[in-house]
Amino acid sequence: MKKIISVVGARPNFMKIAPIHLQFLKQKDRIQHLICHTGQHYDEKMSKVFFDELGLPVPDFYLGIGSGSHAVQTAGVMVAFEKILLEEKPDLVIVAGDVNSTIACSLVAKKLHIAVAHVEAGLRSFDRTMPEEINRILTDTISDYLFVTEETGLENLKNEGIPDEKVFFTGNVMIDSLVSNLPRIDASGVRRELGIDGDPYMLVTLHRPSNVDERESLAAILRLLNKQGRGRKVVFPVHPRTRSNIKNFGLEAEISPEIILTEPIGYFDFLHLVKNALLVLTDSGGIQEESTFLGVQCVTLRNNTERPITVKVGTNHLAGTDIGKVEGIIGEVLAGRVKKGGIPPLWDGKAAQRICQQLIDLSHR
Ligand code: UD1
Repeated sequence: MKKIISVVGARPNFMKIAPIHLQFLKQKDRIQHLICHTGQHYDEKMSKVFFDELGLPVPDFYLGIGSGSHAVQTAGVMVAFEKILLEEKPDLVIVAGDVNSTIACSLVAKKLHIAVAHVEAGLRSFDRTMPEEINRILTDTISDYLFVTEETGLENLKNEGIPDEKVFFTGNVMIDSLVSNLPRIDASGVRRELGIDGDPYMLVTLHRPSNVDERESLAAILRLLNKQGRGRKVVFPVHPRTRSNIKNFGLEAEISPEIILTEPIGYFDFLHLVKNALLVLTDSGGIQEESTFLGVQCVTLRNNTERPITVKVGTNHLAGTDIGKVEGIIGEVLAGRVKKGGIPPLWDGKAAQRICQQLIDLSHR
């Protein structure tokens, strides 16, 4: 019997580990799969709702780390996770994505000579001012098995000297969650609840430090939303980081009452809103992928993307952060200059199956 611990910490991890957990459940007789939640995200609406909706069990370990500076958060996770590993002695630790919990747990595992698998390896924005880029590079450098979502990941890892035999192009587990939950996503009544049933609307999400941690950038984006809100409905579920910055910068009164502001929204409801939107305006990584899969126009408020396949093959428009230019691109898309878009290779709902099979095969070597 092999013991595997998967780590989740922040919201985007939950939909990546859920399909892997469901695959391991089918192999219960040979794999004991445990889940460790670091508690990086802890609000009910940022965490528990995803566990419930995605069929994740109550985590076997909850570290309760919470918020803090990068050092405080990363170090807190490391100290607590080391105790778990010393006690449990798993054969493998699985980490996903690029959040602080990802690098913290992979580093602890490797120092204890425990194998690490990184799900969503190889993505690079080539922007080392992003905390996620540092997390990605470091996690990939020390991982034993690297599972890649798009072909650029293979190239990036090769260029960084990661040996080919550690790297597997298995597809996108986030899309697995989307595919398997489509009926529940379609059944959501969230548009009715928000009073926008049948109306065309723009969906907005913002949380990158580069957009929301400086008063002037955040204020400029809010002015853009106010303008957009005059022509159509704008739905804006506000991330906790963004909400607290809006408050701290005294920008609450600057937001037009026409903008529909909400708390963070659960998985089914949120994907329902993406699927039916006229356009999504975002700085998220995962939403660039989900909108590409759903064929929805996505305008990305960033200067770079670690997911270039969504621009090359999908419906993503990389708009930069110059608000005048972003406005121009939104105008063009709304005027009908849309990207038709296709679905990237291996974004087929079977990535977790391929990853688990690969891990089982490797364990027999
Ligand atoms: C983290 C990830 C980012 C990911 C994002 C998704 C890192 C470095 N960043 O950013 O890659 O895209 O999650 O959401 O790991 N807060 C709450 N309740 C919560 C969680 C956070 O109120 O449940 C507030 C706290 O004030 C906290 C702030 O949000 O200080 C930021 O949380 P944190 O986990 O540090 O970073 P995110 O911006 O969420």
